Amino acid sequence: MDGIHVPVMLDRTLELLAPALERDGAVLVDATLGLAGHAEAFLTRFPHLTLVGLDRDPEALELARRRLEPFADRIHLVHAVYDRIAEVADELGLAPVAGILFDLGVSSMQLDRAERGFAYSQDAPLDMRMDPTSGTTAERILAEYDEGELRRIFQRYGEEKLAGRYARRIVEARESAPLTRSGQLVDLLIAATPMAVRRAGHPAKRVFQALRIEVNAELAALERAIPAALDTLDVDGRIVVLAYQSLEDRIVKRELAARTTSTAPADLPVELPEHAPRFRLLVRGAELAGDDERTANPRSTPVRLRAAIRTRRAA
Ligand SMILES: C[S@@+](CC[C@H](N)C(=O)[O-])C[C@H]1O[C@@H](n2cnc3c(N)ncnc32)[C@H](O)[C@@H]1O
Repeated sequence: MDGIHVPVMLDRTLELLAPALERDGAVLVDATLGLAGHAEAFLTRFPHLTLVGLDRDPEALELARRRLEPFADRIHLVHAVYDRIAEVADELGLAPVAGILFDLGVSSMQLDRAERGFAYSQDAPLDMRMDPTSGTTAERILAEYDEGELRRIFQRYGEEKLAGRYARRIVEARESAPLTRSGQLVDLLIAATPMAVRRAGHPAKRVFQALRIEVNAELAALERAIPAALDTLDVDGRIVVLAYQSLEDRIVKRELAARTTSTAPADLPVELPEHAPRFRLLVRGAELAGDDERTANPRSTPVRLRAAIRTRRAA
């Protein structure tokens, strides 16, 4: 399995979370277990660590379970969307926890499995569900959303300038035949892109991103998950989040800012304890992967790492 998914910013993630995980009985929640690259490294480095791994993709969980077999007595793997992080930790009797890691987005395994329809470079059914056991598919969205809804998701989740034109073409095309394959959609998008505006990058890139976000309700889940994760952290507990696109990073930045700044009204001469922030940022702004890592693992190129520590209990 090695080489399928190289964990991004692994050393930095270990370094940032380490002070919280060295304590006896420490629990780390890996909210996006994937193929357990990060998880395996943490379990190896911290011999007393208990790990809770969440993933909404049953196939990823099964592969992770096999990889983590040597640590079977220290792990709890749970099939869940990460906005259930607090409930899961509570149900296991492990809250509050010492560390939380989010490594957002899709895994290389999901992209490589052509049949799941995430990659615009391979023809496949238009599915795109991270959890193929539930929820709606990209095919249904393309068949059922009206032109305005399609335009809005391409604009909002793909930041696609040609959103209106692509939405119109999709609605026209589906009148003669349903869009069922990624290859059909890619051909349509290429044909709808004027030569003059063919920018760097594939014309389908943003539309595929937008569909994936819509299919998996990714941003809404993240908006609920970050506050829930912060509430689940113990005092001195640490959180690290790796985001790969600006929409996700903006949510992480906003939620961390909300908890790390004072809520005292500007005109108050002294800050009352209830207004003092309960978290502190561990890195200034967002950190990027180093040049060597970007060269060795291109998946790390867009990554933005943010991290925080809980400094005080809730009032
Ligand atoms: C980038 S991969 C994680 C890779 C992992 N850190 C490793 O080293 O192997 C992201 C994983 O998060 C999962 N995921 C994405 N969104 C999720 C969500 N809302 N809830 C639970 N899991 C999610 C995906 O299914 C995928 O397996």
